[in-house]
Amino acid sequence: MREVVIAANWKMHTTPSDAGDLARTIASRTREAGVTRVICPPFVCLAPVRDALAEDDHDVAVGAQNVHHELAGAHTGEVSAPMLAGLATWVIVGHSERRRDAGETDALVARKVGRALEAGLRPILCVGEQLAEREAGRATEVVDTQIRGSLDGIDPAQAADGGLVIAYEPVWAIGTGRNATGIDAAAMVDAIRGTLDGLGWGESGAGLPILYGGSVTSATIGEFMAEPSIDGALVGGASLKPDEMAGIVARAGITARARGLAG
Ligand code: 13P
Repeated sequence: MREVVIAANWKMHTTPSDAGDLARTIASRTREAGVTRVICPPFVCLAPVRDALAEDDHDVAVGAQNVHHELAGAHTGEVSAPMLAGLATWVIVGHSERRRDAGETDALVARKVGRALEAGLRPILCVGEQLAEREAGRATEVVDTQIRGSLDGIDPAQAADGGLVIAYEPVWAIGTGRNATGIDAAAMVDAIRGTLDGLGWGESGAGLPILYGGSVTSATIGEFMAEPSIDGALVGGASLKPDEMAGIVARAGITARARGLAG
């Protein structure tokens, strides 16, 4: 049975002085057997969040929100995969906000996925179409292209062993309060599994958790977790609110129990 994952993407929110407290509060309010929990704060908050989560034996992983595609060099302001050792065990790659703000291409994202896997970081690879692409009936084609490009050159067995996770985040649903329907999201997740299959990923692809992201709240999570092909959520705005995270992870826990993951 595929893993159930709830990942918090704090984006450009929190500071080193308040992030630890928020992480501790969320961790203590989301204890739910069988659900893999991840908090991805800004780079400067990784150490305080790691320290806060190390207390009380919180079983919550720490993730970065980006990683550079080179190991070292003249890249002012960037952070490489080896630098994250001891700070994070997960990393988000190819988020649509980075594709938009930093011009990240599928080819670049694929190099980041490779660097993350080499360094033992679990990548959360983000894909998703723009509104105009969906309205033009091209959503599936766009996501198919993103998956192919963003996994180009990645070894399926290495990706599976390294815990690759894919997040389907339709761009029009991010931060807008307008989420996809569970049915539409599940159809895209199935299409992504079809792409992986078409790439010859076989068992390595079939076991990968695929999450939904885009305006997920405690009120909408049920719609996604009710879909057997959706394995969790990548949560933005609501992930900064302990009440919301408590509700989201509690609902994910129901799915984890139904999948026999909670024992
Ligand atoms: P929101 O949950 O704020 O829509 O953000 C989703 C997202 O981009 C998570 O990576």
